[in-house]
Amino acid sequence: MSALLAVEDVLVRFGGVTALAGVSFSLGKGELLGLIGPNGAGKTTLLHTVIGVVTPTKGRVLVGGRDVTRLSTDARARLGLALTHQIVRPFRGMSVLDNVTLAAGFAKTTHLLRALTSVSRTAERARARELLALVGIADYADAAPAVLPLGALKRLEVARALAISPEVLLLDEPLAGLNSVEATRLAATLADLNASGITMILIEHNLAKVAEICPRLVVLDNGRKIADGSTAAVLADAAVIAAYMGKDASGRDPSHAEASHAAG
Ligand SMILES: Nc1ncnc2c1ncn2[C@@H]1O[C@H](COP(=O)(O)OP(=O)(O)O)[C@@H](O)[C@H]1O
Ligand SMILES: [Mg+2]
Repeated sequence: MSALLAVEDVLVRFGGVTALAGVSFSLGKGELLGLIGPNGAGKTTLLHTVIGVVTPTKGRVLVGGRDVTRLSTDARARLGLALTHQIVRPFRGMSVLDNVTLAAGFAKTTHLLRALTSVSRTAERARARELLALVGIADYADAAPAVLPLGALKRLEVARALAISPEVLLLDEPLAGLNSVEATRLAATLADLNASGITMILIEHNLAKVAEICPRLVVLDNGRKIADGSTAAVLADAAVIAAYMGKDASGRDPSHAEASHAAG
C-alpha cells in the first residue's frame, strides 16, 4: 500500500540559497510526525512544498501514491492537505464562528465569493460550532478575532484548517508564542485530534513538548534530513544533538538540555 503522503528527493532553491537539498520521507495514515530542526533548517519550506506554496526544482510530492507536485494548493486542499501558518491571519471583519464557517464553505467551493455567500448556511455554521468546541474555543464563537488571546487565535487557526476535513493536517509551530500552560493544553488538543484519526505533521521548536506527543521525528538541518525515526532514538542521535548545539549559540530554546531531558 502506498503511503498517505510521500516526499521524494525534494530540492528547493531560493536564488542562491538551497532551502531543501534532496529531502525524502513518507507518512502513514494516523501518524503524528514531529518535524524539527534549527532555525533556517527548511521545515517551513518542506511544508510549503507539500501544500504547493513552493514548487520544488527537483523531486516529487505524492498523496496516496498520486503525484501532486504540479497541482495547485486548491487542488491539494481538495485531496485532503491543510496547513496552519505560524502567523495567524483570520479575517478581522467577521466573528470567530464566521471565520470557521467560511473555511467550511471552502470545503465545497474554493471560489471566495461562493464561500462567502455560504456563511449563512446552517450546515456549515453547525459544523463550525462543532469545530470550535473540538478545539476548545466555543465560548469565543461570537467574538471578533481581534479580542482573542494568542492561545485562542492558534486554536482558531487549527479549527479553520480542520474545516476542510483534511486527511493530513500540517501545523507550522502552532505552540510558538504560547505560555507553557497554553502550549501544554494545545499540545494535548493536538494529540486528541490525532487519536481521533487525523494524520499530522507538527513543526515545533520546544523539543520537550514535541517529544511528549510525537512518537516519530524527522530532523532537518541545513536543508538535509539528518534523522528520521522513533522520538527516543532521534533525540539520542549524536548528529541531532550536534546540530542543535551548533546552531543555538544563544543557549535558549531549543537547547540540548531540553533534548536530553525529553529523551531521558
Ligand atoms: N521565500 C524565500 N525566499 C528566499 N529565501 C527563503 C524563502 N523562504 C525560506 N528561505 C530560506 O530558506 C531557508 C529555510 O527556511 P525555512 O524553511 O523558513 O526554515 P525553518 O522553517 O526551518 O526555520 C532559510 O535559509 C531561509 O532564509
Ligand atoms: Mg519555519
